[in-house]
Amino acid sequence: MKSVTTSAPGKFVILGEHAVVYGKPAIALAMNMRFTMRAHRSNEFKINGAPANPHNMSPHMRYLSELHGNMPMSIFIDGRVPSGSGLGSSAALSAAYAAAVRALKQLPTDKESIARDSFEAEYAAQGRGSPMDTSASAQGGGIALNVPYKEEDFLWHIEKNGRAWDISKIDVPEMTFVIGNTEIRAPTGPLVEKVRKYKESNSFARSIVDEIGEVTLDGLEAIKKNDKVKLGSLMTYDHKLLSILGVSCPQLNKLVEASLPYSYGAKLTGSGGGGCMVALTDQPEKVAEAIRLHGGTPYIVSTGVPGVQVKS
Ligand code: MEV
Repeated sequence: MKSVTTSAPGKFVILGEHAVVYGKPAIALAMNMRFTMRAHRSNEFKINGAPANPHNMSPHMRYLSELHGNMPMSIFIDGRVPSGSGLGSSAALSAAYAAAVRALKQLPTDKESIARDSFEAEYAAQGRGSPMDTSASAQGGGIALNVPYKEEDFLWHIEKNGRAWDISKIDVPEMTFVIGNTEIRAPTGPLVEKVRKYKESNSFARSIVDEIGEVTLDGLEAIKKNDKVKLGSLMTYDHKLLSILGVSCPQLNKLVEASLPYSYGAKLTGSGGGGCMVALTDQPEKVAEAIRLHGGTPYIVSTGVPGVQVKS
C-alpha cells in the first residue's frame, strides 16, 4: 500500500472517569472532533513536511512506531481535538496513527487491534490509566466499561497490571451535550496519580471511588430508559464526587454552575484539573452562552460518530 488516510474521534465521559482506572464502570461517547492523518512510506520520518524529532513527535507516536518496527513514514495531520482538555486528544491521535502504521504494513486494521495498540501507547506515555479513551476512539458511538452487557454488545477485554476491563457498546438515545473548555491545559497522568495517592492513603477516598462506580451503573439504567432528568442529576452528583477526589478546579466549578440553570446536569469530563466540563441539555444555545459569559469556550457536540476509519 502506497498511501493511506485514517481518522479517529475524540470523546467525552458521561460518568465514571478516574474510578474506571480501578476497574469500576464508566460510560464514554465519541464525538464530532477528530484527527485525520494522510501517511505514506518515506526515507525519513516527517510530520507535516518537517523532519520528525522528539519535539514534534508525541511519545504515543514514538511508542507505536517502535511497536511496529520503526518504519519511516511521512504524515500530514489535520483536524483537531484540543489537547490536555479531557477530550481524548492523545487517544484519537494514537488510534489514527496506529491505523496508519498498520495499514502501511498491511497488518489488520480492525477496531480491536487499533484499540489495543493505542491503549498500550497511552499507558506507556502516561504510565497509568484505563483503556476508556482509546476504546471510545477506536469504536466510535458509545461504549461502557465493566457494566453488565448483552453478549452481542461485547467488544473486547483488556488487562493491564492486575486490572481488567470488559468493554461493550451501548446505544445512547438522541441527547444534546454541550462541552465547556476552561482553556486550562491539564495533562491526565499527574491527575490520575493524585487520585491514586489519595485513594491509597484514605479509606474515604476509596469509598468515593466505589460510589462513582454505583452512580455510573444507575446512569446506564437512566440512559436505557432515556431518562434525562435522572441522568443529569447523576452527572451533577458525579461532579461533586470528583471534586471531593480533588480533580475539579474553580474554573470548572464555575462553568458547571453557570450551565445548571439550562441543563439536566453538568460535570467535569475526563481527567479534570482544568480541561472541559459537559452539560446535558435541551437548550444548547443558552448553555453555550452561559459558558461563554463565564470565560469558557463552548462546543455543541454531536455524538453517534464513527470510530477509527482507514481509507487507502
Ligand atoms: C481520562 O479521559 C479519563 C481518566 O479516567 C483516565 C483513564 O481512564 O485513563 C481520568
